[in-house]
Amino acid sequence: MTEKITFYGHATLGLEINGIKILVDPFFDGNPQAKMNSAQVMADYILITHGHGDHVGDSLKIAKRCGAKIIANYEIIQWVQAKGINNAHAQATGGGFHHPFGYLKLTHALHGSNLPDGSSGGTANGFLLTTKSGKKIYVAGDTGLFGDMRLIGEEGIDLAILPVGDNFTMGPQDALRAIKMLQPKHVIPIHYNTWAPITQELSQWQKQVTNETGAQVHILKPGESFTLP
Ligand code: NI
Ligand code: MN
Repeated sequence: MTEKITFYGHATLGLEINGIKILVDPFFDGNPQAKMNSAQVMADYILITHGHGDHVGDSLKIAKRCGAKIIANYEIIQWVQAKGINNAHAQATGGGFHHPFGYLKLTHALHGSNLPDGSSGGTANGFLLTTKSGKKIYVAGDTGLFGDMRLIGEEGIDLAILPVGDNFTMGPQDALRAIKMLQPKHVIPIHYNTWAPITQELSQWQKQVTNETGAQVHILKPGESFTLP
């Protein structure tokens, strides 16, 4: 059982779970941090946290080329089906489902979710994935701090992937408060340094998080991976 996480830049992640390739919020074309384009990636599944363009990204193109199954909330799934995607699975906040790569639950996220053409993408979500080996990976999605992260933390989080850019999502200090509630073993910060309003320098924050919470912070450059121990 292996759980390998690749950061592709901004909020785009690759999860490789026992050989199953999952892309989360695949935004390659036009992503200032991406080192690849959307034609160069493969996926079995595509997970979309919310409707914003920097998260829906290249989902339709990649799904059509690879035949990947798109998983998202009901409103986003209706939208991708209207765009010609047949292989799709809808869930909603608080609901979990056993997929071949593990049990995936949609969590609350404090954010908007309109789609690029202005249609409603329902409410924003995060994902809590429990792999078959029992590892718990929390992808918060775009969100502000909310107190119910404590409930998510009660499940016992191995890895929390959190936005830290500020302006559109939590900034570093609210992410630290999130980490205190989530109590993860490992943290990967995302959604920063893509554009000027979300510029962050994280070296001090990385030390502060470890000092105050014991969590290990893994700052990945676009293209770098982390394998859960
Ligand atoms: Ni957003
Ligand atoms: Mn975003």
